[in-house]
Amino acid sequence: MTKVFVTGGAGYIGSHVVKLLGEKGYDVLVYDNLSTGHEWAVLYGKLIKADLADKETLKKVFLEFKPEAVIHFAASIVVPESVKYPLKYYRNNVINTINLLEVMEECKVKKFIFSSSAAVYGIPKKIPIPETEPLNPINPYGETKATVERILRDLANSGSEFKYVSLRYFNVAGADPEGKIGFAYPKTTHLIIRALKTAKGEFDKLEIYGTDYPTPDGTCIRDYIHVTDLAEAHIIALEYLLDGGESDVLNCGYGRGFSVKEVISMVKKVTGIDFKVVEAPRRPGDPAILVADSSKIKEKLHWSPRYDDLEFIIKTAWHWEKNFNP
Ligand code: UFG
Repeated sequence: MTKVFVTGGAGYIGSHVVKLLGEKGYDVLVYDNLSTGHEWAVLYGKLIKADLADKETLKKVFLEFKPEAVIHFAASIVVPESVKYPLKYYRNNVINTINLLEVMEECKVKKFIFSSSAAVYGIPKKIPIPETEPLNPINPYGETKATVERILRDLANSGSEFKYVSLRYFNVAGADPEGKIGFAYPKTTHLIIRALKTAKGEFDKLEIYGTDYPTPDGTCIRDYIHVTDLAEAHIIALEYLLDGGESDVLNCGYGRGFSVKEVISMVKKVTGIDFKVVEAPRRPGDPAILVADSSKIKEKLHWSPRYDDLEFIIKTAWHWEKNFNP
């Protein structure tokens, strides 16, 4: 059984990947400080509650488990928070990743999959965005992801045998189609979750941040990708590295977008609830359009997503949200 070390495996995306890894017969060890993740979300393998800042524990766990590969989800991910507390973001996302990479080096673990983000592009010039677009983040969160990508590039070019795949996520949404896990962080700023929580009555209204963008209906367009399709991309990337593949950087999106207004209409259709929506000023740092050019991952890794359907994405998220009571 191939042993895979997963940081942040108790979180939203991590737990979906752990589920697939378990179903496919991998031996999984989840390393998570449970700051935003949950023990119940880890459906397979062993969970160690510890922090990446604690290098001693990290190394001890590595020496005992002896993983062949690492998938690194653990990070802080809230863009506005990163603007307010940049040092927290650099420490957690950059310094803790360096700890992890050092321990990997010391323990001779050479395969690494990294959770990057479309936030590394900032305001892109080309739409859909190819991986060759320059890294030009416009907030500290995106900076931390771009910084780690540069560290990974340099490490892979250092003459070591280190190989990595960096996956640049677009807007991840939806929940496990079997309904076992889903998004479980109450303080979210994400559009689909906030819209569902408004439908549920947790908020009295949903605000649309900006209706004067240069898009057909004036609201921002995003490439919403189902979390299980994204999880599958991790499995494929892992198998690629285990088969001796070279380091690479890949966008994870479907290559099409929906506006904020289109998403809200779909949430109303799926839930059958006509909640209150108000127009509000632009939120700082929002690019008008973020849509992936996903041809590279489709051609090179033969990723064939199954859930490229906004209605299905929202249905799975709604099913989870209705049944999930924090
Ligand atoms: N939006 C609203 N009202 C809300 C919430 C969001 O109008 O209550 C709008 C936003 O302004 C944006 C769109 O809905 O135009 C999507 O917003 P999200 O917060 O759901 O997602 P973002 O595109 O801002 O961010 C996501 C991830 C980030 C990542 C980024 C990169 O959450 O971690 O994609 O593409 F950096």
